[in-house]
Amino acid sequence: MEPSDATYAVHGWVRTKRDTKSVCFFEVNDGSSLAGLQVTIDKAVVDLPDQITRLQTGCSVRATGRLVASPGKGQAVELLCESLEIVGASPAETYPLQKKRHSFEFLREIAHLRPRTNTFGAVARVRNVLSYAVHRFYQERDFVYLHTPIITASDAEGAGEMFRVTTLDLDGLARSGRPVDASLDFFGRATYLTVSGQLNAEIYAGALERVYTFGPTFRAENSNTTRHLAEFWMIEPEVAFCDLSCTMELARDFVVYLIRTALERADDDMAFFDTRIEPGITESLAAVADADFAHMTYTEAIDALEKSGATFAYPVEWGVDLQSEHEKYLTEEYVQGPVIVTDYPKQIKAFYMKQNDDGKTVRAMDVLVPRLGEIIGGSQREDDLDLLTERLRELGLDEKLYWWYLDLRRYGTVPHSGFGLGFERLIQYVTGMQNIRDVIPFPRTPGNADF
Ligand code: 4AD
Ligand code: MG
Repeated sequence: MEPSDATYAVHGWVRTKRDTKSVCFFEVNDGSSLAGLQVTIDKAVVDLPDQITRLQTGCSVRATGRLVASPGKGQAVELLCESLEIVGASPAETYPLQKKRHSFEFLREIAHLRPRTNTFGAVARVRNVLSYAVHRFYQERDFVYLHTPIITASDAEGAGEMFRVTTLDLDGLARSGRPVDASLDFFGRATYLTVSGQLNAEIYAGALERVYTFGPTFRAENSNTTRHLAEFWMIEPEVAFCDLSCTMELARDFVVYLIRTALERADDDMAFFDTRIEPGITESLAAVADADFAHMTYTEAIDALEKSGATFAYPVEWGVDLQSEHEKYLTEEYVQGPVIVTDYPKQIKAFYMKQNDDGKTVRAMDVLVPRLGEIIGGSQREDDLDLLTERLRELGLDEKLYWWYLDLRRYGTVPHSGFGLGFERLIQYVTGMQNIRDVIPFPRTPGNADF
């Protein structure tokens, strides 16, 4: 902004205040950017003693005045205050956000106030910019945005990590000793919160060719880690007439598009993450956006891990699932950048993945990135009716529950592929924030559903 004779009005929340005999300075932030606006009260010009007394960190204000060139450091202009209204006071003795830097653990306990800090304001703005970018990316490529259900009867991942949804009187049933009868429940059957919109997306990809979902998903896995939430947001594109390599290309283009958007459209916030959270992050992200992603098969990855000479808490041999320590080694040491790992053993992947001719592996792909490990999981889907039916039987899954999914292979089946990007993992990757609980406004984790 430039100095000007016009009168401006600002409203927002006071971050800091400094009062001397002749002037009172305070910084107002309205959340529109990292930088606040300095407001100066020249006591020789305006007489506002009551307001100055009530003006405290955390209070909400409305101030008017002229923008003048700032003699102080750190800002080009400041507002020379003509009038000031304290909209909502904030008692300094009890306001939980004091000037000093608070730990993220502490801020999680005051999730109703943490968006007023620099870090959480910046995270919220980057999240917003990237949400919009998700839609832009797919809309520009003629994908149809599909709303898939939150309440579902099917376990899309077949992993049994679902939250039950019921209106049955569980306490009453427990007291009476009668068993739970799902046929008497609201939907006449057992229902759950969805773990993925994929199976429903496959239905629409089988008609509209290119669709994507962007919604909340739920996992009742008891993982207390820095990269797991019980409720997280996922983007799932699904594309007909598309094989594994086509979906790998889409995944790479998508991640690069999101990185570039964050660097271009959230540059101030990204500069903040670079200085305060993860030094060097903007440069390393810019380099990732300009390079191809490495690709290796699971078998090659296991080979690299076995030859690494590193000691892992979880020993490596062909057939084991990759743990976060293995993913870190592959991205940070071996490739030193993002890597797409494909063709995993079929025993460690979901029932719907297309089987390779070797009888051992499936056309799965995970995109791994430094600092985090898996950010995307996807695959080509099994489009052969017989092979899919056989696989459901092998895994002891009830074919009757998946009748409509099998129908898609019965009528006009087509090679198709897709993936899921965990939106919070993406935000972690782009901002450098270490704990996934700090990149979603209100985290849900085992034992915690406050706010
Ligand atoms: O690898 P996942 O389980 O894949 C699926 O759900 C497929 N149905 C996706 C598809 O092909 N359409 O999950 C996809 C991504 C993971 O790579 C990870 O980024 C994220 O979702 N994710 C989680 N993020 C936060 N907390 C959790 N508990 C997560 N579980 C998975
Ligand atoms: Mg996965």
